[in-house]
Amino acid sequence: MARNKVIVGLALLTLAACGAPEGIGRDSTETLTSPATVIPLPREARRSPGELRLTEATTVQAGAYSEVVKREVEALRERTGLPLPIVEEAGDLLVESAADLPDESYRLSIDEEQVVLAAGDGAGAFYAFQTLSQLLPAAVATGGWVLPAMTVEDAPRFSYRGLHLDVGRHFFDVDFVKRYIDVMARFKLNRFHWHLTEDQGWRVEIDAYPRLTEVGAWRAESPVEKNLDPYVGDGTRHGGFYTKDEIREVVAYAADRFVTVIPEIEMPGHATAAIAAYPELGCTGEALEVSTTWGIHDTVFCPSETTFEFIDTVLAEVVELFPSQYIHIGADEVPKRQWEESELAQAVMEREGLADEEELQSWFIRRVEGILERHGRRLIGWDEILEGGLAPNATVMSWRGTKGGIEAARQGHDVIMTPVEHAYFDFYQGDAETEPLAMNWAGFAIDLARAYAFEPVPEELTEAQARHVLGPQGNVWTEYISTPEYVEYMAYPRALALAEVAWSPRGARDYDGFVERLRALLPLLDRMELSYRPLDP
Ligand code: ACM
Repeated sequence: MARNKVIVGLALLTLAACGAPEGIGRDSTETLTSPATVIPLPREARRSPGELRLTEATTVQAGAYSEVVKREVEALRERTGLPLPIVEEAGDLLVESAADLPDESYRLSIDEEQVVLAAGDGAGAFYAFQTLSQLLPAAVATGGWVLPAMTVEDAPRFSYRGLHLDVGRHFFDVDFVKRYIDVMARFKLNRFHWHLTEDQGWRVEIDAYPRLTEVGAWRAESPVEKNLDPYVGDGTRHGGFYTKDEIREVVAYAADRFVTVIPEIEMPGHATAAIAAYPELGCTGEALEVSTTWGIHDTVFCPSETTFEFIDTVLAEVVELFPSQYIHIGADEVPKRQWEESELAQAVMEREGLADEEELQSWFIRRVEGILERHGRRLIGWDEILEGGLAPNATVMSWRGTKGGIEAARQGHDVIMTPVEHAYFDFYQGDAETEPLAMNWAGFAIDLARAYAFEPVPEELTEAQARHVLGPQGNVWTEYISTPEYVEYMAYPRALALAEVAWSPRGARDYDGFVERLRALLPLLDRMELSYRPLDP
C-alpha cells in the first residue's frame, strides 16, 4: 500500500503543478486521493485525471478472448442494466491480447475515451474484468457507472492460490460449491481443494464401489456442539454426495473462472466412511458405522492388495472426472495402532524390509504415487508424508506450521503452505465468548490481521528453495460449520486477506490499507449477499 500511496501521491503532485485539469470535480478529486479499491492489491496502479462513464451507448470489442468477454460482459450487463453490445470495431471497452504479458497477467488502461484491457491469456483477461468490476461503484445511486481514469499493471506473486472446503464433515450442495468457487475467482484465487472423503462421509460417486455413497455418504447423526465426552448426538441423519454429472458441472464451472479443482481422496487414515462401506479395506474386518464423532480415528486402510486394487480403481474414476494435474491423497493423522496389531500389515513390513510403521506409511504413499503416475497425475499429501521418507515426486501441503514445507523444499520438493497459525479459517476469528462455535485446539484465534500476516515463503529458505513454494492456501474444515451461511461467515473476509497474500507483491502489503479497501468493497460483498463476518469497528 505504501507504494501505491506514493504513486497516487505523484499523480497528485503532477496535477497540482498543472493546476486542476478540467473535468475533475469534487468527487473525482476524492477518488484521486484514495487508492484503487481493489483486492487483491494490484502490482501497480496509477491514477490519472478524469473518469469514464459507462452509458447506454457504451460498446465492447472483443479483439481476443471472446469467450471470457462474452461471460464477463454479461455479468456487467446484469450489474449495470446497460446494454453493452459487443461490436466488431471501435469499441469503447477493447479487449486485446498482449504477447509481452505472461500467463494470468493483464494491463488495464482507462482514460476519458476508452478502456483498453490487454492480457497474456484468458485468465489474465478474466482477472482484468474482476479488477474493472471492483473499480465500478457498488451501485449506481451516486452519479452513474463511473470508472476512474487509471492504468493497472498486474500479475500474481504465486501460481497456486488455494482455498479448501471440507464437505466430509458437513455436506454442501453443488449450488453452494459453485458460489464458493465464484467468490474465489472474483478475488483471483485459482485452486479449489475439494476435501471429498472423511471418516464422517464419502461424497463422490464411484461406479465400481456403489456402497461408498449408498452407505458411506450417510451418518446416523452428528455431535451436539462440542459434546464428545460424554457424547451427545443430535439424532439427525446427515449426508449427501455428488453424482458424476454434478462433479463435471462443478469442474466446468470452475474452469470457466480459471479455477482448477483439486480433489482430495483421503488415505490411509480418515477413511472410516469407506471402511464402513467395505469392511475388507480395514485391518480388523470389523463392521463399522460411518463415524458420528470428530477427531482422529484409529481406523485406517490395511496395506493389502484388496486396498490397493480399491485405490487404483477409485483413482482411475477420479482422474476421469478431474483434469487437475494434482490429486490430493490426504495422508494426515494416521494412527499406527491398527497396523501394529495387524498380521497382514506386519507381514508387509517384513516382506518389504520396512523398519517401522512410519516406513510402512511412506511405502503406502509411494505405491499410491506409482498408481497416480500411471494415470498421468501427480500427488499432493499433507506434511505427514514426510514421515518415513517422501515419495519421489510428491508435493507437500504444509499444515502443521511451515516446518514440513521448509523440510520438503530443502529436499527439492514443491510445497503449498497452509500453516495452522494463519490459514485455518475454521478457527475463531475473535473472542470465543462472542463468536459462534469454532475450533480452538491450537489455543489462538485467527483474526483478520493474523490471516493477513501470513508470509508463505519462510526466511529459512534460500532463493532456489523458495522457488519450490508454489503458493498459499486457506482451509475451511467443517466439524462445527453446518450451513452455507456459516461457511461464508468463517471464510470471508479472511479468504480475501489470503487472496492478497497469494497475489500481491510482498513489499506492497499493508494491513491498514487492506482494511480500508475492504471497507470500500463491503457494498460489493453485500450485493453478492455474502454472509461475511462484519469487520471490527
Ligand atoms: C489437517 O488439518 N489434519 C490437515
